Amino acid sequence: MIAFPGCNLTRALSTLFKQLTLRDFKMVMETKVIKVSHPQEFHLLDEAVSLLQQGQVVAIPTETVYGLAANALDPTACEKIYAAKNRPSDNPLILHVSNYTMLKPIADVEKITPETYALMDEFWPGPLTLILPKAKEYTGTSLPTVAVRMPNHRVALELIHRCNFPLAAPSANLSGKPSPTCAEHVIHDLNGRIPLVIDAVSRSKFGVESTVLDVQNRLILRPGYVTKELLEPYLPGVEYYSSVEHWSQIDPNRPPTPGMKYRHYSPDSPLHLYYSPETGKVDSDISKLLKENKVVVRICNNDCTNDTIGGYKKLYFSKSGDNDEIAYNLFDVLRQADSLRPDIIISEAVTTGPFMEAIMNRLEKAASQKIIQKNPN
Ligand code: TXA
Ligand code: MG
Repeated sequence: MIAFPGCNLTRALSTLFKQLTLRDFKMVMETKVIKVSHPQEFHLLDEAVSLLQQGQVVAIPTETVYGLAANALDPTACEKIYAAKNRPSDNPLILHVSNYTMLKPIADVEKITPETYALMDEFWPGPLTLILPKAKEYTGTSLPTVAVRMPNHRVALELIHRCNFPLAAPSANLSGKPSPTCAEHVIHDLNGRIPLVIDAVSRSKFGVESTVLDVQNRLILRPGYVTKELLEPYLPGVEYYSSVEHWSQIDPNRPPTPGMKYRHYSPDSPLHLYYSPETGKVDSDISKLLKENKVVVRICNNDCTNDTIGGYKKLYFSKSGDNDEIAYNLFDVLRQADSLRPDIIISEAVTTGPFMEAIMNRLEKAASQKIIQKNPN
């Protein structure tokens, strides 16, 4: 027998196994992937329905990003979402419905205003999450409200319809990582931690998560494809939430959306975000980094081919500066940049165009505090 001076191997192993909790063991499971995109393949969803009925989690496609779904009415099933994602337990989940009747067990339907129903009629199914008064019997959050949306994705809608209960589903990434816009991203983060991924083959159409709207306070808590301009006719005076102006106005003791206080969308490598690339600062900073033998990845949101420095990798959110394309590629390109394991990722800000707020909200969070020349004056 091999001797380990000062160490009893059996005792050491037994201590190690005791330290591994039951939860660590449960995380190692086979993750199956099924491809479902056409109505002829919808019968394949029965496997997902059965897992969800049994209180399991399943990754599902939506038009915004992939979600990690569980039966919203089963608290033990929802706990598995938090465990698989490593999500902080005080960050409540968005609930997904396929018809208005499904609101009943989660929202206090008597208290939903005609203004809110008008928003549902206009924007559902679609990328708009509404903060609604919570149903008395719903125990999934200690907040007085719930966040609900009806996704505009035929596979997601069919799955919810077949389940006949609402699905809680945050984005299907490890907490803090860029959201997944295809099944490969989900597998990268959650392989071995969940039993099933439904792969809709094509990438999520929009590429950023839904707009979160607090109808009562007329505040957009998270910007998305449904912009302030689109909401204005239905909700006059609606504004983007700003921590400076609104935090204390609503409830000084807590952020209006619990997710706000967490770091989001971050690649592993540090990302520096440049607001004014035309000043030449980005080029001089890259030259300096290359002289220090740093591995640099630059992400462009237009055709940034005329810079004269070589020796680093360029990726593109878009070559034409089209905001639709930038949003669609955003999380995928952040993940690609990360996979090159650079010392630094350099990206440019988007300062004009539709749903610029939605794109910049994600990029600024990905960049954490490293935002350069936002206010050059
Ligand atoms: O597009 C989406 O919305 C995707 C797909 C899968 O539907 N889902 C998604 O969920 O982005 P999640 O969990 O990553 O983001 C939910 C956000 C969080 O910032 C959370 O704090 C907020 O909604 N939220 C949930 N319930 C809330 C409530 N009652 N009041 C305010 N904010 C709430
Ligand atoms: Mg998320």
